Amino acid sequence: MKIVRSVHELRDHLHGQNRIAFVPTMGNLHAAHLSLMRLARRHGDPVVASVFVNRLQFGPAEDFDRYPRTLQEDIDKLQADGQVYVLFAPTEAEMYPEPQNYRVNPPTDLGDILEGQFRPGFFVGVTTVVLKLFSCVQPKVAVFGKKDYQQLMIVRNMCLQFCLPTEIIAHETVREPDGLAMSSRNRFLSDTERRLAPQLFQELSHLKNRLQGGERNLVTLEQQAVRALAGAGWKPDYMAVRRQADLKLPTPADLEAGEPLVVLAAAQLGSTRLIDNVEV
Ligand code: PAF
Repeated sequence: MKIVRSVHELRDHLHGQNRIAFVPTMGNLHAAHLSLMRLARRHGDPVVASVFVNRLQFGPAEDFDRYPRTLQEDIDKLQADGQVYVLFAPTEAEMYPEPQNYRVNPPTDLGDILEGQFRPGFFVGVTTVVLKLFSCVQPKVAVFGKKDYQQLMIVRNMCLQFCLPTEIIAHETVREPDGLAMSSRNRFLSDTERRLAPQLFQELSHLKNRLQGGERNLVTLEQQAVRALAGAGWKPDYMAVRRQADLKLPTPADLEAGEPLVVLAAAQLGSTRLIDNVEV
């Protein structure tokens, strides 16, 4: 595996390749990331991965400074796994040359709701860096995990709006045996919090079952799930039933017609904020 820090070197290594499959990450790689690499490998060749902790997508009060940076371990894992041909680990100056103030602004109806409401500026940071990374790597396909459901939709929408030639492939959320969605942030959970953490997925699954059982009062379902989480010591940000197509609120007609839905949740456990979702 080649490890490159500059766009210039990256271009040298990828010259003439037109079936590149790309997996952007912020590092601290775990089993779910390796699974994304394997899916990428099925859709293209060579596989390029990136590790870049993108300051722009963290709010001033968020965990940019404590976000785990484990580049050598990441390199060892990717090398042992053998799927990735080039690892792009750019410096901040490489991704954001000074003076820089270009930003990609997602449409407000997608970017300012749910995660965007609780993390203002988050999706501007994500789309800006993903556009830059796509421009560096020029992938034919790129793989994103469904755990970050809204991110996946916004990146897809960005590709459509900017006529990017990259196809976005979704990877199912990878879970621990007890249901907790794998995430780099899980490592911040204390033992007690870790034992409690699968409750987020349990509440989502419970809500999904009640929807499938014919319950139609979405506000009540959402409130009950929020109360259950709060009662167990979580600080829930949202629990929301939305349409898969556009993350809008489903109408009664949507519910009758069996419109594909997704239930999305974000909640804080101690100092760690977790997100998850289930499709219905
Ligand atoms: O999902 C992530 O890890 C990040 O948001 C991404 C897509 C790598 C952009 O920094």
